[in-house]
Amino acid sequence: MLLTNESRLRDFWYAVMPISELTSGPKSFTLLGEKIVLWLDQAGQPAALEDRCCHRSARLSRGSVEDGCVVCPYHSWAFSSSGACVHMPQLEAGRTVPKNYAVNAFKCQERYGYAWVSLRDPMVSIPEIPEAENPSYRQIDCFNETWNTCSPRVVENELDMGHFASVHRQSIGNKDVPLPLTYELTDKGPTSLHLCSKISVRAPDQQRKNTRSEHEITTREMNVTWFAPFVIRLDLTYPSGLRHIIINHPTPIDDSHIQVLQFHFRNDTEAETSRDELISFERRVLDEDKYVLESTDPDFPMDKSTEAHMMTDRAGFMFRSKLQELLAPKLKPDHLPIQQPVDCNL
Ligand code: FES
Ligand SMILES: [Fe+2]
Repeated sequence: MLLTNESRLRDFWYAVMPISELTSGPKSFTLLGEKIVLWLDQAGQPAALEDRCCHRSARLSRGSVEDGCVVCPYHSWAFSSSGACVHMPQLEAGRTVPKNYAVNAFKCQERYGYAWVSLRDPMVSIPEIPEAENPSYRQIDCFNETWNTCSPRVVENELDMGHFASVHRQSIGNKDVPLPLTYELTDKGPTSLHLCSKISVRAPDQQRKNTRSEHEITTREMNVTWFAPFVIRLDLTYPSGLRHIIINHPTPIDDSHIQVLQFHFRNDTEAETSRDELISFERRVLDEDKYVLESTDPDFPMDKSTEAHMMTDRAGFMFRSKLQELLAPKLKPDHLPIQQPVDCNL
């Protein structure tokens, strides 16, 4: 499955960039192969349009923002967040901008400090993260970078309790315990699943400090939730009582590139674990995943017979089934193919 062939994926929210990136002017992003321009409107809310001017196709993201509108760099036509051209400097006296002078507008909103975009009407809302409203937790924005892989490979990796002992053997993985200690998978309906699993991990010095673990070999209780199509919430509990929630969102740029947006919530303080210390260790772990995931095939198989499987792929299996179901075109009567009359001369 190549993602840009899956029209249904346009019906979901995706985080595309931190809001802070928009304060210096319009920015471009490619979502599922669609070039979009994002900027902040007059109310400071993010807006998203097709990144192609309706006049001579110049990229609006190379323009500027004036009075809450994005202004094309070529002839300075201005477009509002609805996509309508609202100002043409060249308009002759007494004339108004024709109503059909417009570019496609996309749904866009701010959540958790990020701009989220849906190319069509979203089927489900942006996942709720209760810790974002809980004053006992701090948010740490960790990563925002492009990888050469596809989104479902990252989701499966997060649901894969069999990869730690191998992929992360240089950091947190305990190669002597390749299987999870517990594994409880729950179907949460068409757009979500939950996996509760305990794994044996190692805690190198930095990680022992970051997680206030006493021993080098410890356990990590992982509550992993998948939200359709590609948001993963990794809720980690350590014996010290520390809670660490990782939101990992591999946003699909095109068939073989993703933007990895990762932000965390922790119930400790900067004095206990500094942001820099946390990020330097998480960087190491993330690079181990990246190294392997960039070597996988971005043509993601949805059927179960193309690849071999093992016990720890059960959650990934459930994810594949649910994604397949979500992306299946539901034929409505008016979408059924028209029957062609039989040619009797054949
Ligand atoms: S190309 Fe955009 S205003 Fe001319
Ligand atoms: Fe990993």
